[in-house]
Amino acid sequence: MGFGLGFPLFRRSVVGIDIGNASIKVVRLEGSSRSVRLSYAGLAELAKESSEDKAEDALKSLLDEAGIRKERIGVVFTGYTPTIRYLTLPKMPKDELSEAVKWEAGKIINLPMEGMIIDFLVMGEIDDRNIRKYEILVVAVEKNTVFGNMALFKKLGIQISLLTVNPLSLLNIVKRNYKSYEGNIVYVDIGAGKMDINVSMKGVLKFTRNIYMGGSNITKAIAERGHISLNEAESLKKEMGVRLLAATQTTEAGEANIEEKSGEAVKSVVDSFILEIQRSIDFYRAQFREGTMQKIILSGGAALTPNLKDYLAAFFDAPVVIDNPFFNIAYNKETFRSMEGITPRFSTAAGTALGLLR
Ligand SMILES: Nc1ncnc2c1ncn2[C@@H]1O[C@H](COP(=O)(O)OP(=O)(O)OP(=O)(O)O)[C@@H](O)[C@H]1O
Ligand SMILES: [Mg+2]
Repeated sequence: MGFGLGFPLFRRSVVGIDIGNASIKVVRLEGSSRSVRLSYAGLAELAKESSEDKAEDALKSLLDEAGIRKERIGVVFTGYTPTIRYLTLPKMPKDELSEAVKWEAGKIINLPMEGMIIDFLVMGEIDDRNIRKYEILVVAVEKNTVFGNMALFKKLGIQISLLTVNPLSLLNIVKRNYKSYEGNIVYVDIGAGKMDINVSMKGVLKFTRNIYMGGSNITKAIAERGHISLNEAESLKKEMGVRLLAATQTTEAGEANIEEKSGEAVKSVVDSFILEIQRSIDFYRAQFREGTMQKIILSGGAALTPNLKDYLAAFFDAPVVIDNPFFNIAYNKETFRSMEGITPRFSTAAGTALGLLR
């Protein structure tokens, strides 16, 4: 399902591709970072446990539909998430920096370094007890994982300009959409099979954690407890979401009905989302001696779970919002009307494309 134009308007268009556990998202943006326009947003649902061929077909249809071939294309890492760590190092010449980062990475990343690709990004500078330091983000990933990620695109004859990681793509959205991102911003992406919990400060990603748990865990829990099919459970989840919890409080004693059982199932999964987010915040606060969180931003399909936002808001001190990655991007409201309800699913793809804009 795609929205928008079947061709790029300008030569200078950029594309972000996000292949998730449940769906493929493709976003094309045009213009410059000062004046950017959405010209295509496409989403293909992947059947559960669908084969690589199916994913390839689905991606190809979206790219064909949008007429994408020669644009600058950015892709987000799929599958096993790379290790991402924040560190600081005293300012030094660029050629020395790369050696120093590798050395530090070896100390903080608990993985054998051979067979790994280490990349880094200088995100900012700080004063640390009168020493000027770089704020650096190190990304470590196995070579084979990188090749695996490239294989699909090679097969389709598509050249990639950027291979990036979800927390950095989403950070582009945070910086663009939330004017006051100066404080501690927690942004959580909850997809079908995984959840990325990130904390940024002044536009610098400081903490990120990846947990293999997402919307499909809610569906599975409902199906198991209610003895209903996954399809039925998925519909019930989308219709009622966290509102199912109310059923556990209102029904009278006796045999629990499906809604009541589902309520308990939803609660158990959503409470573990909360626990993981709280743990991450606690860890971040201890490590960086930080105080309050300014905002919690949700993205990914599971962010659409009815009442999830309010349920989370009751637990955390910070306001909770659901992301709309296109909030500060111009687009034709009519053309993209049916996209409006599902925009958080495009956050990663949109952020990836934004990263390529000049
Ligand atoms: N309206 C909705 N209400 C509740 N859940 C929803 C809704 N729409 C989608 N979801 C859930 O969101 C998940 C899919 O979201 P998304 O497309 O962001 O995942 P993905 O990016 O493919 O997965 P991942 O990030 O784990 O790789 C599924 O679990 C689906 O059930
Ligand atoms: Mg996702």
